[in-house]
Amino acid sequence: NTQPKSIIVIFGATGDLAKRKLFPSIFRLYKENKLSEDFAVVGVARRPWTNDELRSNVKKSVEKLQSENADVEKFASHFYYQPFDVTDVASYQQLNHLLSDLDKQYNVPGNRIFYLAMAPEFFGTIASNLKDEGLTSTEGWSRLVIEKPFGHNHPSAKQLNEQIRQAFNEDQIYRIDHYLGKEMVQNIEVIRFANALFEPMWNNQYISNIQITSSETLGVEDRGRYYESSGALRDMVQNHMLQMVALLAMEPPIKLTPEEIRSEKVKVLRALRKMDVTEVDDYFVRGQYGKGIVEEQEVQAYNEEQSVDPDSNTETFVSGKLMIDNFRWAGVPIYIRTGKRMKEKSTEIVVQFKDLPMNLYFNKGKNIHPNLLVIHIQPDEGITLHLNARKADSAATSTPIKLDYCNNCGDKMNTPEAYERLIYDCMRGDATNFTHWDEVSLSWEFVDTISQAWADKKADNFPNYESGSMGPKESDALLAKDGFHWWNISKNHTLED
Ligand code: BG6
Repeated sequence: NTQPKSIIVIFGATGDLAKRKLFPSIFRLYKENKLSEDFAVVGVARRPWTNDELRSNVKKSVEKLQSENADVEKFASHFYYQPFDVTDVASYQQLNHLLSDLDKQYNVPGNRIFYLAMAPEFFGTIASNLKDEGLTSTEGWSRLVIEKPFGHNHPSAKQLNEQIRQAFNEDQIYRIDHYLGKEMVQNIEVIRFANALFEPMWNNQYISNIQITSSETLGVEDRGRYYESSGALRDMVQNHMLQMVALLAMEPPIKLTPEEIRSEKVKVLRALRKMDVTEVDDYFVRGQYGKGIVEEQEVQAYNEEQSVDPDSNTETFVSGKLMIDNFRWAGVPIYIRTGKRMKEKSTEIVVQFKDLPMNLYFNKGKNIHPNLLVIHIQPDEGITLHLNARKADSAATSTPIKLDYCNNCGDKMNTPEAYERLIYDCMRGDATNFTHWDEVSLSWEFVDTISQAWADKKADNFPNYESGSMGPKESDALLAKDGFHWWNISKNHTLED
């Protein structure tokens, strides 16, 4: 274990992300001995809290993770709080003093992580003030971690990026896409590039289509205001879904460096088939949840949620067909689907191989299933390979079987959480699993055409899917047009007919 020494400054330390994800992740690193004893976290936010108030919140948020070798009390004593006005230079000067004192106290050589876990409208202001007030000119390094949303469309993302780049170089900017911190998302490359079995077949000669589903059971909760201006397209597709597409479709990098991997991912995003606004309906389907039953609870429709316009045009579901126009993928659709208030919380990738040239065997009188490779991202973490085998005592009958590998199923092992990995990567200066501006820029350009089409033409059928379902029927029709259907995988990893 390397134990990088740095001070982490969390902007928005009184907020939800800090409480739910950041404090627990830092605590896990502490427990695993990945943090040097010489670390400090400074929380800043508008509220007039004290060190003690922050510490007691930190303790509350990590209580459940306490174990013999990790004393919550001692952990929390490394936290400091400063009330902060992001538009006032005095706040930055005061913070600079505090950081210099803490550098001395903890023997940290001026290494600083500025983690922006707050409203994006202030990202640019904070970045420039940090630089102008000298907080980034220490003897050590400074890194800026930015949460999404990174802009609202391509022009706003570009403007934000330019603002940030005036204060930080690209290699100091760590744009978080927490899906890139997930174990099985990181495993995509290993499955592909460490197995002679798959890579030769990973192309349009052998693969008929790929399906990526990320379904959620939660609704918008108390994020109505944000979500109204975002929708599933900006919230999930622009970042998480397109990142998974890039990892699945990229060429093998020549080395495992952030630059080489990124350059392969960027090529995929560049090869995404561009649509004209008038063609969007041929490739994309939008949905909005109505009322229904999710996990045995009755739930209300999206347009009845708090801070949501009863006549809202915001999509809570997207499915789409992406085409990657290059030699490897020509003609292979990659279908994506994501939505809130669906049947279950699950993220899965299904790679469907092409049918054999003819059927010698049948399964219950029907054609046999194609081979499928399923990558379970969450909640289970594993891989299933669906094959066909002889059915005992029957000549021309085959039966589907599965080779199931579970990294982490049912009984939760202690795999690190996405945020824990990403914070640690940032401390070590490894930007592999963060998104570079080139990727952000290309994915916004792609998504902007779709949002443009949907803003121009209001959906006339919202709400169009029942809560607890797998989305609107148009989403099934999207695949049926191409002769495919969504593979729904049940909890025990078998195929649902
Ligand atoms: C976030 C979105 O980026 O990802 C949320 O803003 C969504 O709306 C979440 O719920 C899903 O993440 P996970 O890790 O729970 O699949």
